[in-house]
Amino acid sequence: MRLLTPLLLGSAVLAGCATTSEPTPIAIASLSPTQGNTTNGTVSFVQKGNQILVDARVDGLTPGPHGFHVHEKGDCSAPDATSAGGHFNPGNRPHGGPSHAEHHAGDFGNLVADASGKASLQLSVPASEISLAQGAPNSIIGKGLIVHADPDDYKTQPTGNAGKRLACAVIRLR
Ligand code: CU
Ligand code: ZN
Repeated sequence: MRLLTPLLLGSAVLAGCATTSEPTPIAIASLSPTQGNTTNGTVSFVQKGNQILVDARVDGLTPGPHGFHVHEKGDCSAPDATSAGGHFNPGNRPHGGPSHAEHHAGDFGNLVADASGKASLQLSVPASEISLAQGAPNSIIGKGLIVHADPDDYKTQPTGNAGKRLACAVIRLR
């Protein structure tokens, strides 16, 4: 029963979502692997009230944490995705974890992959930090999204020391 309880709770939550009218994703990012890598995935962004709900499903990772950020340029053209630039930082803040008082708007923290290399992450980010409105100063539409090889340590400036870029996407309106 101890093992079953979280599973039952999980399915109850899923059933609850299925019966309420689920909002249509407003923006989508399709992660493609950088050269020599296999990481891929899909990330959806939905606005609900004053929150942006981020739902990430990523595959092809080594088990453990991987830095995950919105980057300032929606340009995945470089084989190593350095073309996406640094972290999206419209507020000119220091780098940090998503729940730290100070962090870049694009600091989504870490994706944590299981033994099979799959990671899923659900984040709720205040709409004061990121916007899905095209042209807004903090809009993430047209920006990059990067999954890194290493964990974000939430400290090292300005990157979190998350290492190489395994996958890159451009965030697009649906
Ligand atoms: Cu990054
Ligand atoms: Zn950052």
